[in-house]
Amino acid sequence: MHSKPWISRTALIIAGAAFLLAGCGGGGGGGGGSDAPVQASSTAATTQAAVAALNVDFGNLPDYTTTLPAHYASAAALDNTPAGAVSKKEVATLGRVLFYDRRLSLNDTKSCASCHQQSTDFADIDRFSMGFAGTDRTTAHSMRLANLRFWQPGSMFWDRRAASLETQSVMPIQHPVEMGFDASNGGMTVLVDKLRSITYYPELFTLAFGDGTVTEERMQLALAQYMRSIVSVNSRWDSAYAQVFNPSLPDKGLSLPAPGLTEQEDRGRHLFMNFPSKGGMSCAACHVPPTFALKGTTQSNGLDEGETKIFKSPSLKNVANSGAFMHDGRFSTLEEVVEHYATGVKDGPALDKNMRGPDGLPRLRPVTPDDKAALVAFLKTLSDPVLAADPRFSDPFR
Ligand code: HEC
Ligand code: HEC
Repeated sequence: MHSKPWISRTALIIAGAAFLLAGCGGGGGGGGGSDAPVQASSTAATTQAAVAALNVDFGNLPDYTTTLPAHYASAAALDNTPAGAVSKKEVATLGRVLFYDRRLSLNDTKSCASCHQQSTDFADIDRFSMGFAGTDRTTAHSMRLANLRFWQPGSMFWDRRAASLETQSVMPIQHPVEMGFDASNGGMTVLVDKLRSITYYPELFTLAFGDGTVTEERMQLALAQYMRSIVSVNSRWDSAYAQVFNPSLPDKGLSLPAPGLTEQEDRGRHLFMNFPSKGGMSCAACHVPPTFALKGTTQSNGLDEGETKIFKSPSLKNVANSGAFMHDGRFSTLEEVVEHYATGVKDGPALDKNMRGPDGLPRLRPVTPDDKAALVAFLKTLSDPVLAADPRFSDPFR
């Protein structure tokens, strides 16, 4: 296995061929006619309590603007940042603090990061996550958070019930199992009051929004901006594909052999990227590179007979770091996942047409042990160690 030279090469590609996402200005004043002016006053605001609580250099906050490498060009059009949203490092930093703060749960035991750990692409290795009370677990597997930026409206959570990342971001706080501020415990009103009384929040809200008022809407903006910055562009597949990426080819070079992958990994890449007519397994028809988020029109993948719900899948970047797969974490290895696509697909109203053969029935396509191993090896090339170690997304608390 290769060690690290590809990391620095990819970093160079990002620096050299980067372009800025439309709609993310570099920090200036209130954008897009929103009602409250969003003006930085970083130097004026005091950060005494924040400095005491947090391991953050407020004089030199990191940049959270998303710059994409050239081979990510097709993803830019999918960006779900709301029109007029202002990208500010102070807002993203507030989001980072909120994300890691256990005080967002009723009894100060769980933060977002308790179930979304950076080392596993912000998911949980447990099949079901332990809630704040320490007694009940979630009924769905925690989701990886990379590349949330590239989803269309109405696709947050496994069952797509949240309309946007902003709306989604405070729902875990109000969840009766996850963080406990449900209606019976006073909901967001009580939580917002709680944050107002924690000395560093008025300071952080002032940095981010110009005054220290804590509101649910501002929390949403900050959490969403932090999570939208979690973009994965540094997997081994990324650095391989970047070398053959060619915007003038119909498939942008996706079907070309990927330099630097082993023969087995490249066989897996072929199976993933191509339709059955070319000897592939059409995984990419739904999990679309380079983000490996699902194509907007994707329906379900046939886990259960008679399924009517249309589920999403998180981006497959870093999928190998998970300990459980699918919405209910039913599979514990990637081999089991591949076996599902080979022989396990069940029919139902929500089944996607790409899961059906020419006869309209669920396509069953037994795979050889070699091909199964190749596909799994390819999925492992989607792991992004740069993201897992990025200090901008780490725990800021002292
Ligand atoms: C107790 C564990 C737990 C906590 C705490 C938690 N989450 Fe989650 N998160 C989950 C689970 C489980 C899911 C999948 C739930 C579902 O789809 O019904 C999820 C899903 C999500 C998703 C959807 C991702 C996607 O691709 O659609 C986002 C975003 C998210 N969480 C962010 C957060 C934020 C922000 C916080 C803190 C405010 C948080 N989570 C707190 C367990 C947790
Ligand atoms: C018809 C669209 C479609 C096709 C084709 C498809 N998938 Fe999926 N995939 C999904 C959906 C939808 C889910 C989430 C299902 C759920 O949890 O209910 C998923 C989930 C997954 C997961 C688990 C993700 C996680 O975070 O738990 C993996 C891994 C995966 N697919 C790999 C593949 C591979 C490999 C192929 C090709 C053999 C493939 N998929 C083909 C739609 C598709």
